[in-house]
Amino acid sequence: MSEAHSIVVLAGDGIGPEIVGATRQVLNRIGSFDYKEHLIGGISIDENGTALTEGVIDDCRTSDAVLLGAVGGPKWDEVVARDPQAPRPEQGLLGIRKALGLYANLRPVKPSAALIGSSPLKEDRIRGTDLLVVRELTGGIYFGESGRDGDTAHDDCAYSVVEIERIARTAFEAARQRAVGRQAGPRVTSVDKANVMETSRLWRETVKAVAVDYADVELDHMLVDNTAMQLVSRPTDFDVIVTENLFGDILSDEAAMLTGSLGMLPSASIGGEGEPGLFEPVHGSAPDIAGQGVANPLATMLSAAMMLRYGLDLPAEADRIESAVDAVLDSGLRTPDLFTGSEGETEAGTSEVTSAVLAELA
Ligand code: IPM
Ligand code: MG
Repeated sequence: MSEAHSIVVLAGDGIGPEIVGATRQVLNRIGSFDYKEHLIGGISIDENGTALTEGVIDDCRTSDAVLLGAVGGPKWDEVVARDPQAPRPEQGLLGIRKALGLYANLRPVKPSAALIGSSPLKEDRIRGTDLLVVRELTGGIYFGESGRDGDTAHDDCAYSVVEIERIARTAFEAARQRAVGRQAGPRVTSVDKANVMETSRLWRETVKAVAVDYADVELDHMLVDNTAMQLVSRPTDFDVIVTENLFGDILSDEAAMLTGSLGMLPSASIGGEGEPGLFEPVHGSAPDIAGQGVANPLATMLSAAMMLRYGLDLPAEADRIESAVDAVLDSGLRTPDLFTGSEGETEAGTSEVTSAVLAELA
């Protein structure tokens, strides 16, 4: 590598600092990076009175990539319960996604062979699962007008054609890329609630119109409730799933269980050409286990691999991290979220798992 890539590190709350710290050790083994650490979420509220400051946004904008841990915790939830106007940690995450224009969230779901037994779902159902959730990330109900009027509350959901078009293109392009060198052709399943919602009807129309440019990609449309069911009954039939912000949030947590643990799922949030991406595990801040040294750092390490591949154009380095993680899982080492007590498994903490990944990279 010629010059050091600049990475803004937003460790956040709960287990965030532990898993991000572990991941930085792995990144340092792979190359030399120029890190800038900043606060986000609850810890930023404590320090600055807001979950995200302009200074942090500016530094993120001029970086090559952003690596994020997790935000939130009961401490701040309690404040909000007393005072609904109080800042919430999640505003930091939503704010940085919006500020950086990160409209596409990619959440790959591919159970590692070694973890097939850790999933609560039947092995024969999930074996062979290899899907990608493409979640729209800067629109819909998450960013609509919301408020209260007496004993009524509302959250508006809006989508424009432009917002739907660009995420549809991301999904079709991703499907094409995934199919390279594969026997099965590319497939996209667009998920909506077109039997009820107007935004979903616009979604479906627009995805169909974009599909004209991708005649090689097989497209089908599925209602979100049906998708929730199909995901657990026949997950291997999916290739790329593209859906709106809220549905993607829900379906990606469900899909995570196909991999054995929410602690395994990485994600990449991508914006416009040349803009920095943001890379974070799908799981949350897990305040119940924070500080105990038992958090699973693998989803963050795999998110760092996505950062190397999609954000910094270092695919070989990304492969190395992914192979190292696979090797550690093959060796039987398991953080408690993955530990089932089966033969060949050893229960281990964050630092032990991290050392094992580092040893694989040596
Ligand atoms: C996620 C999380 C966030 C979301 C929360 C923490 C705001 O659940 O990244 O999936 O809903 O997008
Ligand atoms: Mg979520």
